[in-house]
This record gives sequence, structure tokens and C-alpha cells, in this order.
Amino acid sequence: MTYVVIMRLDKFICKSTQLTKPEAIAMIEEGKVNINRDVVTAVSTQVHENNQVTLNGILLTLRPFRYLIMNKPANTICSNIDEAYPSLFNYITEGNNAELHVAGRLDADTTGLVLITDNGSWSYNIITPSKKCEKVYRVGLRKPITEDATEKFAIGLQLQGESQLTRPAKLEIITSKEVLLTITEGKFHQVKRMFSAIGNKVISLHREKIGEITLDVEEGEWRYLTSDEIQSFNLKVK
Ligand code: URA
Repeated sequence: MTYVVIMRLDKFICKSTQLTKPEAIAMIEEGKVNINRDVVTAVSTQVHENNQVTLNGILLTLRPFRYLIMNKPANTICSNIDEAYPSLFNYITEGNNAELHVAGRLDADTTGLVLITDNGSWSYNIITPSKKCEKVYRVGLRKPITEDATEKFAIGLQLQGESQLTRPAKLEIITSKEVLLTITEGKFHQVKRMFSAIGNKVISLHREKIGEITLDVEEGEWRYLTSDEIQSFNLKVK
């Protein structure tokens, strides 16, 4: 029988204890970690689903994954460390933020809905274009939107430096300078580049919805997703 590999041993220790990676490595190298009763000192050993991992004789179990929704303020960045702007992870004061990532990053000046998790397989369903997960943006424009824009977006646009047209996108006109745009992919600066390709310019950008999830927390606030919300991405394979 073959068993599915879960992850490297050092990562397993981090995800099942409060230890940092260097601390986990030290424990392994000091011979304090056993897999199925055998002492294992190689940090890169792969842990399989049936393995019993102990640290100082105590059986370890993985912490459940975390799934959050946040309303990203302007002038924050989606990486885990502060750079030119502070990281939005500063707003999350619970748990180990180093393990979290944003499923579909926003630019520093873009606001609105971000989904945050430590489960890479889950975010794959949100980010990968072939999964056709819809992202809805409210876009403020410098110039009035032209009549032919809806059709151009529906057909697909040629962005500079890209070999393929953008996937069909839905444009809903709210006012001459405010639109809702629904896209299913997330190329670098995609929305800004799409409007630039039709001779306009984005002056404000706010993400309102991803898949079935609509933004419902105030700026700078977050909450855990419900199990139905988490499941909604796993089920959605169009
Ligand atoms: N498209 C952009 O241009 N910027 C974002 O932040 C998100 C989508």
C-alpha cells in the first residue's frame, strides 16, 4: 500500500507545535523526534499520512488550516513582511502569520477583499485561471468608459508582453467613470493594464467579491471564513 506524503518533517513539527523552523530543526537534529518509534535526524524526511510523529515522546497532530477574509486598506502590501508599505498581516494578531499567504494579491493602492490561508491547495483553486473563479472589482476611471468597451472586454484584450488575450471578462457600467469588472485570472496589474489597453486609466480599484464570497468586513478588519465558504472553492470546478 502507498501512503500520501504530507510534508517535510521540519514543516510538520512547525505546523503541529508553536516551534519556529530553526527550533524544529534543532529538535530533529538533537534526536528528539521519532517517526513510528524510530529516531529521525534528517529534517527533509517526508512524513506520510499514516506516520506517527512524536516529539520528546508526545504524539503530534497537525493544526487545522486557517482561512480568513480581510478588507485590505490602501497603502498596505500583501507580502508577509513590511517593505515600502506595511504588510496587511500586521492586522492579524492571532496565530502564526508566517505560515499565511494571500490567495490573489492586490497592489499596494488597491483596497478590498483578500482571502488569506495557510492551505496552498485551497488557494490554488482561487488563483488558477482554469478553475474560472470570478473576482469582481469596482473600478474608478479617469475618462468616461467608451461604448465598445463591454464587447472588447468580453472578447479579450491583448496586454503588452502577454502571448495570449485576456480571458473573457464582464463589464457592468455603473456611471460613465465607474464600472464593475469580473475577471477569472490575475495577471500582474491585470485590471490596470486592461483599462490602459483601451486607452483609459484606473484611478481607484476595490475588490468586492471572490467566487461566492462578498466583502462584509470593515476596512482593516478580518474574520474567519465559515466552513461553507471554505468548501465553496473546492466544489467549484466549472
Ligand atoms: N488588478 C490590478 O491591476 N491591481 C490589483 O491590485 C488587482 C487586480
